[in-house]
Formats: sequence, structure tokens, C-alpha cells
Amino acid sequence: MANGEKATLTNRQSPFSDAFKQFICEGWAPYSSEPPAPLPGAVAAAAHRKKLSAIYPGERLIIPAGSLKPRSNDCDYPFRPHSAFTWLTGLGTDREPDAVLVMEPAAGGHTSTLYFHPRVPRTDEEFYGNPRYGEMWVGQRESLDEMAALGQLRTANIDELEPALQKMASQTPTRMLRETDPSLANKLDAWRGRGDREDAELVVTLSELRLIKDDFEVAQLRQACQATAVGFEAVVRELPNALAKPRGERWVEGVFGLHARHQGNAVGYDTIAASGDHANTLHWIRNDGDLHDGDLLLMDAGVELDSLFTADVTRTMPVNGRFTDAQRKVYDAVRAAQQAGFEAAKPGALFSDVHQAAIAVIAERLADWGVLPVSAEQALDPVEGGQYRRWMVHGTSHHLGLDVHDCAQALREEYRGPLKPGMVITVEPGIYFKSTDLLVPEELRGIGVRIEDDILITADGYEILSDQLPRESADVEAWMAGLLA
Ligand code: GLY
Ligand code: MN
Ligand code: MN
Repeated sequence: MANGEKATLTNRQSPFSDAFKQFICEGWAPYSSEPPAPLPGAVAAAAHRKKLSAIYPGERLIIPAGSLKPRSNDCDYPFRPHSAFTWLTGLGTDREPDAVLVMEPAAGGHTSTLYFHPRVPRTDEEFYGNPRYGEMWVGQRESLDEMAALGQLRTANIDELEPALQKMASQTPTRMLRETDPSLANKLDAWRGRGDREDAELVVTLSELRLIKDDFEVAQLRQACQATAVGFEAVVRELPNALAKPRGERWVEGVFGLHARHQGNAVGYDTIAASGDHANTLHWIRNDGDLHDGDLLLMDAGVELDSLFTADVTRTMPVNGRFTDAQRKVYDAVRAAQQAGFEAAKPGALFSDVHQAAIAVIAERLADWGVLPVSAEQALDPVEGGQYRRWMVHGTSHHLGLDVHDCAQALREEYRGPLKPGMVITVEPGIYFKSTDLLVPEELRGIGVRIEDDILITADGYEILSDQLPRESADVEAWMAGLLA
């Protein structure tokens, strides 16, 4: 080995001998000649590309998947592609770091090509010496043909990407999803000789196109909700164990996470496992508290499938299986608010109508309990009021899909505009009485409740996709009793 080669090794690497380099290349079975089956989302992805193509005729569109993100030092987070890339390619679970989808304008639309790093022959040092791409390290990668069969689209080696993009760069109107490959974006700006205004519009379009879900997406979300219900039931069965252990919230998080990994890809967002007063911290993900007999457990959790569609569900349940009177009073108020939200959800209603319906119930209950310093009507005044927000500061709904907070770059008027069939939103009112809130009767302090379900807007109303789990307080108790028997 030359000195130069040694200088390139890290302190953890030892040099490969020439004998090893020769030996490692020999004696392997050939790769299968059977093409893999298409990805489950490949057909839907082709339809999604068609929709995008129709919006930008004659323009080159560049959608990078993104790259691995360092967690610390030389360890990366598991890879998750940008949701727009998944929507356009069907590539889900940890596929495909550094790939780039290019939609090239062509007669009648666009020709799509997926540029990626294909497998190399086993005679290449990458096979055993490259921890990022080598088969010995990350498993067998697809060939160009295999990836083409999986995704049902043209593929090319990532080495060909830059030459392809440089070709006619200054004459071809081009838009790029910049955030997933800023260094390519900078090069592109030089090649095309202009800035990024059109790119910003592409980001908005890619979000807005996902507001209405097609049959494949609805089926995936339905399945994500079913898988999530399995996780919730497993948690209830484990409650006696979680109660007996220190940091029972972590046990709850872990049990749900086990089922998320087993049923799908992962959790769609960090699980909130909040017992007692922790439920009043909206994003309680530290989850290091104990569970106590007599307390409520608020669990907000969702399974993300291999396709990367996720559920987003919250149930608040008594750790010992029975609500106290005070807990039930708060729970039933939140449930009534949720029902009002459901009933407001129909085509043509505004996104904000769902919220208004839910908070009207909450404001009335707070007024009945003597908690509001003004009448419910005054509190609901959009300009002068808002006092109820002390106890429910978040919105009631968001769009749901590949991202838990889906379509986040859609323009406000599209995101919050009239609801349309095919939209999927959450309905998740809550009431949060912190233990330190001196304006709340003592018996209610420390109680936090949220109930969250995922609904599909249908032709004439809504369908609850997360209907596998009970919602009424008595039904929650009966469900728990059945699971704990
Ligand atoms: N789990 C996050 C949310 O409900 O929005
Ligand atoms: Mn939510
Ligand atoms: Mn949630």
C-alpha cells in the first residue's frame, strides 16, 4: 500500500491486503434475473407526476429525495425522503438517499427519470469498503433495471445527472425543490443564469397538489389508522406493567413504538405519552414520568406505514381504567367539542368552521364551570375575546397524509379554504388545566384531555378513518376493561 492510501484511511480502518481484494471478489452467486414487483405506490405516483406535468408544461422539474442527515459525528438518522419525492415516485421506507427525480419536458407532457446510485459489481471496492453504499454494509442495492421495475419509470446513474441538467440549462425553464439539495440548487442557478423565484412556487404547488387524497392515499391512511389502533390496544394491555415501573411513560412510548416498527415503518412523529399534569404540556415528548393510579394518560401517537403515510390519533384514558367524576366532566366536554367539529366537517364548509364548532362547545363548558372570566359569547369574539385559549391554545385540525402536518407549504387560502371530498384532516380538541393554574377549581387542576381522530371528507360529510378506537368515556372504560381482563 502506498503511503498516500494510508493517509486516506480513518483511525478505525485497516488497509485491505491485495490478497483480500482479490479473494473478496470471487465465489458469489449471480444476482437474480427476475425483475422485482412494482412498488405498491408506483401507479399512484405516475398519476401524481401527470398532475404536476399538466401544471408546468415545457418546464424541467427537479425533485431530489434528500440526503442522509447526521445525528452526531459519523452516525446518521435513518433516511426519510422528502414527502414530495415519495408522492411522485412511490419510494417509501428509507429509499432512496441522494436520488433525484427529473421530469424533462417532452411532447405531450414530461419524461421522468430517476437518477440514483445503482449497485456496482462485486469486483468494485465499494462492495466491501464503502459504509454508505456498499452491499456488505447496507445490503444489496438495486441495479438500474431493478429500480426501473420497482418504480415503473426510467432510471439513470446519478453520475449522469449534472451533465443532463447542464444540457440546454439556460434555454429550458427549470424549477427545483431546493431544500433537499442546496448544493445542486446553487450549481443550477449558475447553469441556468437566474435565481429561485419559480422554485418557491413549485414548493407551494407540491403541497397543494397533495391536499386531496386519491384512492391509494386514502387506503394507506385507513391502514395507518388500523395499525395505530393495534398499537393503542397493546399499550392498554401493558398499562399494569407501565404503572409498576419507574418512567412508565417511556414504557408506553416503547410499546407503541414496537408496534409502529412492526406494523409499518416507524412512528409518524414522536409519541406523546403524557401522564397526569404532563398532558398539559402540548408537545410532551420527553416521556420520562411515572404513571400513577388515578391519573389520566394522554397518548398522541401514529403509525407511519412503509409507504410513509401516517395516522395521528390521541386518546386520553384513565390509567386504572375508570374516570373520576372530575376527569369525566372534562373528558365529556372535549368529546362534545369533537362531535361538534365532526358535524361541521363537510364539503364546502371552511376549514375554520370545524374549529369554530369545537371551541364554541369548549367556551360554553368553561363558562358553565365558572372558569371563564367573561361569557362564552364574549370569549368567542374573534377580535376582543379569545380567553378560552388559555385552556386550548392549539387549532382543532390540520391536514394529514405523508406528513403528520401535511401540505404545510400550501397557501393559506388553499389550506384553510372550503373542505373538499378527498381531504383528510384531524379533529382534535382538548382542554388543558395545568396544576399551577390558580384560576381553575382545585378539583380540575392537573387534568389534561385531548381526543384526536382522522377524518376523510366525503361527498356529503365525513368518515372517521380512526374509528377502530372508542371515543365516549363509557366506551373507553369498557374497551380498557376488555383488554385488561
Ligand atoms: N401529533 C401532533 C398533532 O396532533 O398535531
Ligand atoms: Mn394532530
Ligand atoms: Mn396528534
